Amino acid sequence: MAEQESTPNIVRPVLVTIEGVQLQSNFAANWDRVKVFQAKPDDLLLATYPKAGTTWITEIVDMINNKGDVEKCMRGPTHERVPFLEFGAPKPLPTGIEQLAITPSPRMIKTHLPYQLVPKSFWEQNCKVIYVARNAKDNVVSYYHFDWICRLEVLPGPWEEYLENFMKGNISYGSWYDHVKKWWENKDRHRILYMFYEDMKKDLRKEVLRIMNFLEKELPEEIIDKIVHHTSFEVMKENPMANYSTVSGAGFLDHKTSHFMRKGSVGDWKNYFTVAQNERFDADYKKKMAGATLKFVDEL
Ligand code: A3P
Repeated sequence: MAEQESTPNIVRPVLVTIEGVQLQSNFAANWDRVKVFQAKPDDLLLATYPKAGTTWITEIVDMINNKGDVEKCMRGPTHERVPFLEFGAPKPLPTGIEQLAITPSPRMIKTHLPYQLVPKSFWEQNCKVIYVARNAKDNVVSYYHFDWICRLEVLPGPWEEYLENFMKGNISYGSWYDHVKKWWENKDRHRILYMFYEDMKKDLRKEVLRIMNFLEKELPEEIIDKIVHHTSFEVMKENPMANYSTVSGAGFLDHKTSHFMRKGSVGDWKNYFTVAQNERFDADYKKKMAGATLKFVDEL
């Protein structure tokens, strides 16, 4: 991908360290308020490492909550329907905390925070959490493309460098390895549903049923079919309330080189990793994930 400058008036953030985790500076600027955020018992937290399927899980949950009513789910773009807890950007964009203050309950709340940085009120209030994890290789490829097109993210630089930074946890939200492992290790301490992007790709209906069960919702078969259809990649890609096309007009996402709804597949990493990069990545992965009971598939 060609080098690209920051758009005039939008200065790309840099990385800073918050409680041992790398975070982009616009989000880090909010940290004092995020840390003491007061969750409510009926808040539903949707947690992911960036690019693991946050928008997808949002659309599914919103469709379940609205009993498959597509019009209701098109009441606003994703980022309005699900406030992003730690979001921060140059003014006049509201922070996630400001947006949450005016969002009526029950709320869906998005976060990419690692487990240990989640505000403790979520646990005190016994909130339900859905965590989605995606295999590391597709995750890093998706993140790389997103960082290029999103002018609110740290400039990613060349792919080779980006991949090294991902392996070192030297990108916003830090180590993918620590993120997926910590959420996994703690999933049974709270009401956490741990899901995998690859399972959703393999059998979306089955995963929708799992989510419904977790949310204690029952729906007729034809509504479940409707939800599965509406949340397929092909349909969401064309849905202006789910494909982030509404923010590209504001200059934050540059959809000229890539799209938010880019490929939506498992195994796309094979188009980006060289043989040498793959070998190096696998060897490093083995060390970082040694002893973990958590297993991923990276092809279907
Ligand atoms: P790709 O870049 O690999 O295409 P997030 O919402 O966490 O930012 O994740 C974005 C990734 O999820 C993108 O991956 C996007 O295409 C993918 N995605 C979004 N909706 C999807 C869907 N309905 N089915 C499959 N993948 C989806």
